[in-house]
Amino acid sequence: MPEPYPRTVVVLAAGEGKRMKSSLPKVLHPLLGRTLVGHVLNAAAPLDAVRTLVVVGHGADQVRTHLAGIAPGATAVHQAEQHGTGHAVRIAMEAAPEATGTVVVLNGDVPLLRPETVGELVAAHESEGAAATVLAAEVPDPAGLGRIVRDATGRLEQIVEQRDATPAQLGIREINAGIYAFDAIRLRDVLGKLSTDNDQGEEYLTDVFELLVSAGEPVGVHLAADHTETLGCNDRVELAALRRLLRDRVNERWMRAGVSLLDPGTTWIDVTVALDRDAVVDQNTQLRGGSVVGSGAVVGPDVTLVDTVVGPGATVLRSHAVGAEVGPGASVGPYAYLRPDARLAERAKVGTFVEVKNTEIGAGSKVPHLTYVGDATIGEHSNIGAASVFVNYDGVQKHRTVIGSHARTGADNMFVAPVEVGDGAYTAAGSVIIENVPAGAMGVARARQRNIEGWVLKRRAGTAAAQAAERAQGASAVVPSASEGEEIHGTAESVGGTHRAGDTATE
Ligand code: UD1
Ligand code: CA
Repeated sequence: MPEPYPRTVVVLAAGEGKRMKSSLPKVLHPLLGRTLVGHVLNAAAPLDAVRTLVVVGHGADQVRTHLAGIAPGATAVHQAEQHGTGHAVRIAMEAAPEATGTVVVLNGDVPLLRPETVGELVAAHESEGAAATVLAAEVPDPAGLGRIVRDATGRLEQIVEQRDATPAQLGIREINAGIYAFDAIRLRDVLGKLSTDNDQGEEYLTDVFELLVSAGEPVGVHLAADHTETLGCNDRVELAALRRLLRDRVNERWMRAGVSLLDPGTTWIDVTVALDRDAVVDQNTQLRGGSVVGSGAVVGPDVTLVDTVVGPGATVLRSHAVGAEVGPGASVGPYAYLRPDARLAERAKVGTFVEVKNTEIGAGSKVPHLTYVGDATIGEHSNIGAASVFVNYDGVQKHRTVIGSHARTGADNMFVAPVEVGDGAYTAAGSVIIENVPAGAMGVARARQRNIEGWVLKRRAGTAAAQAAERAQGASAVVPSASEGEEIHGTAESVGGTHRAGDTATE
């Protein structure tokens, strides 16, 4: 059995959006995780439309490419010249001559509209058997918007644009949101009768209402409960205002779902992000794209997560992460940078001034300080000494470093990839590891130290350093002869049986 009201969605997105002053078409501007047109398509998604038509014009190629990514089922309809909203819908209807049932028209620049509100508009329209129903709102400031003009009995008479309105009509605060439901057949009928006899010389979609009313067709007005849903976006000041409204809406939803937001005013969560109960988001934090924050995790203050998954009980403090995965109970920051495919297993730690890219860090392993880890695999419960660099790039290609489990690498190591450090192996501080270190071995790759006794007294005589040295040596009164000063007192046993502080002491 065919649907009684098969639905066609038409999104108007051909306008230039002059006042945005942008090389990006207006409907492609981003707003907390979606473009403007992405939000509008999302609001229409529950309608289960048999077809979705997006009227494109300005920046058509860019808009088409975007649509292919976010709404592959939608069809772009080209409006080469923008002769008004009525003209745009006429072109869309010509592209779908078979359309019957309900046509839902949405302005591409009204992104805060809730799916529920669109659903209510369409339900009201269909249950009334109306020829057309407009979504209206009572707004504090109707400037620039089309006004809903009702007759003495309260019935819709016409929709009049600000620039065509009489002084009395300008006082009306009930406005046209630019969202409509139409009966396809009757819409097609009147679209052919639109004139361009108005201040802009355009075909106004809004004139459809007056035409239907004078033909005796039933038309309706559906009033939005929350007028902020109907706000349009014409410039970047309005876009910023919409962003704040949407932020507050999203934040409220998460708080009611059991997430603690310590400072909602500085917390920006994309509509595409998911948070579990008892997650805590501290101030000045942005959660973007497909990011997920698990139960009991603490994120912030001062954190940006883009497409990053934070497991339950993990903490991320003053850090930036893109495309990363932070395992349960793991800890990141302060001041860490996780780049794509940085993956921390359970209880792993990435500490301060540490950058990690395309690397797996095993359960309980730590990279605590001042380190770059790129293209590596680190096993479980290993510790990477401070100030180390995983030297992954030979100038042409990237190579991997593999560190085993329970390894302890010394401070200030270079791991020149490809290279491996085995399970339970150690490396000495200051080593440049270019050869594999077998399991359980101590890898030492640094020059031996030599002390030239008395060098300062001889070569920097009279300086404060020399005087300090003299004072220090006063008690033992060791004054080297000139020849002794050049002797080398290096020791061959500096790394040996005893565990030396500094080799691996940066846990
Ligand atoms: C329109 C309504 C107005 C309403 C307001 C709500 C008309 C005549 N007026 O005014 O009553 O209060 O929306 O936001 O409809 N577009 C096209 N092709 C065109 C012209 C416009 O695709 O030829 C698209 C624009 O890209 C935009 C939408 O239609 O997404 C609305 O057009 P816009 O020029 O912004 O209309 P408003 O003046 O805001
Ligand atoms: Ca507009």
